[in-house]
Amino acid sequence: MVGKVLFFLNVRPGCVYIDATCGTGHHARAILEKAKCECRVLCVDKDHRAIERAKEYLREFLDRVIFVRDGFENIQEIIKRLNIDKISGILFDLGFSSEQISDPGMGLGFRQDALLDMRFDQSSPVSAYDVVNKWPEKNLEEIFRLYGEMRDAKRIARLICKERKIKPFETTRHLADFIARYRRTRKSIHPATQVFQAIRICVNNELENLKAGLEGSLKLLAPGARIVVISYHSLEDRIVKNFMRTKEQLKVLTKKPVVPDEMEKSINVSARSAKLRAAEVLP
Ligand SMILES: C[S@@+](CC[C@H](N)C(=O)[O-])C[C@H]1O[C@@H](n2cnc3c(N)ncnc32)[C@H](O)[C@@H]1O
Repeated sequence: MVGKVLFFLNVRPGCVYIDATCGTGHHARAILEKAKCECRVLCVDKDHRAIERAKEYLREFLDRVIFVRDGFENIQEIIKRLNIDKISGILFDLGFSSEQISDPGMGLGFRQDALLDMRFDQSSPVSAYDVVNKWPEKNLEEIFRLYGEMRDAKRIARLICKERKIKPFETTRHLADFIARYRRTRKSIHPATQVFQAIRICVNNELENLKAGLEGSLKLLAPGARIVVISYHSLEDRIVKNFMRTKEQLKVLTKKPVVPDEMEKSINVSARSAKLRAAEVLP
């Protein structure tokens, strides 16, 4: 989606952009390369390992990049602290990166075994281990229903609570294998996908942070500036759509979400569900 991001951000030389979820820095790099030598990018990410990777990946642009390890829900404080003004655009590329899902230290995925963690910011107080092993059954049911959109939320919450009395869920594999014994889903989707999604959204407070990040960014952007958001599931996309439609200061640039073309989908499997929405701040 890099080309589409550049188009909707309307990247121009001499401007300042925020990459609110810089990850390894692929989008930031494309912005820096497009607006030759003159634009600056503020790279924000919660995960210190992502920031380290981005510093390495963007090492030839270090004079035009500022890295901040923080959550985009704090974007107003970040900008105040750095004393930056006239921001021309902000990009949110939500969720997690392929580097994070395959990093056993994050405990995000179930393809390889890892301690149950899932925190983008490991200094935050609640990990996936706490949610799965300590939360009341009612709360588990609620997050499975709301964030996992699971029709069998109640049954799965009950089964987890029964099992954890015998043996706490320590690892991603333990949880994924257990869920796979009790759920059936379409062949292409692992039965634990929605359970993991629900826990990750909850552990990282993703939906509330998204709302705060969008609201915060609106207060920082100059007239004509752009907000571009790529989301990967319907709950996020709904928040972005409503935000862009209901703010008087914004003109929506994407009537329908922009999705990757077939070529992109075949190269990058994780981009299959991506939806891009963009809006411009009115004068
Ligand atoms: C899909 S990846 C971004 C990949 C990136 N666009 C690139 O080009 O490499 C999403 C990133 O958002 C970060 N993230 C998630 N929630 C965040 C938040 N509230 N504040 C800042 N970063 C966040 C994750 O740590 C992850 O690195």
